[in-house]
Amino acid sequence: MTDLYAVFGNPIAQSKSPEIHKQFAEQTAQDLQYTKELIPPDNFSESVKKFFSHPKAKGLNITVPFKVDAFNLVDDLTPRAKIAGAINFIAKQANGILLGDNTDGIGMIKDMLNLGWIIKDKRVLILGAGGAVRGVLQPFLDQQPTSITIANRTLSKAEELVAQLQSQKLDAVEYSQLSGKAFDLIINGTSASLQGDLPPLPNNILSSAACCYDMMYGAEPTVFLKWALENNAVQIADGLGMLVNQAAEAFYLWRGVRPEVNVVIEILRNQLLEQRS
Ligand code: ATR
Repeated sequence: MTDLYAVFGNPIAQSKSPEIHKQFAEQTAQDLQYTKELIPPDNFSESVKKFFSHPKAKGLNITVPFKVDAFNLVDDLTPRAKIAGAINFIAKQANGILLGDNTDGIGMIKDMLNLGWIIKDKRVLILGAGGAVRGVLQPFLDQQPTSITIANRTLSKAEELVAQLQSQKLDAVEYSQLSGKAFDLIINGTSASLQGDLPPLPNNILSSAACCYDMMYGAEPTVFLKWALENNAVQIADGLGMLVNQAAEAFYLWRGVRPEVNVVIEILRNQLLEQRS
């Protein structure tokens, strides 16, 4: 019988996860079914229990707005999930234990390394201090940058993150404090791109070989990536590669085989471009 997987979220229609995992399963000849499920806001834990009551149910991905609920629900957590405070991945282990993990951060790092970007010894600026940023901070620190500055509209939220991670490399600032500083790598982890907004960034904060990354993606470059190009960023990337890489990490944890990501990123990119025209 086929193993069962799903992504739980609300809304969920936009999710590309079933398609990504279908591509991975075909590539690696794995027999599995992966569906997307719209979960009512007050029914998350019942839905998870019901899903895993099926003998062939092996794993879930969790998306907005349930990542913290899932964190509180599972029986056990990986160290990186504990630091992230939210999970996007559940695996049912052989002993029936539900293990939670967060593959978002490693997904972003793998995408950047795949693009040939260097994080080690670089001055990193991360915009935003919400759940998306919290999930990627530890994997970023693991890459040994020179420093990570977190800029947020609400300074206290950035300061809380810095206090939680307790690394000398981390620093919290307001956007206005960025003037006169220079960064080699800037990541937009705010949700501003969703509304077509740009965080209030001063110009002239990119070093001569700076790369800029937006965790959001779309058919067109986001407002932040347009700003990056106007400020002479050497390379830009949106979060489509992060999406596929976090899925690849989940697939590997569930199935023990690593799928090829680039071909899937290309398929999704072409679909985005086709939808636009
Ligand atoms: P997520 O889980 O996607 O991180 P979140 O926890 O709601 O969502 O966090 C959203 C982040 O985007 C926050 O850092 C928010 O800044 P505040 O903490 O000051 O609210 C940031 N954000 C959202 N819209 C923004 C905008 N227009 N300009 C700058 N920052 C914005």
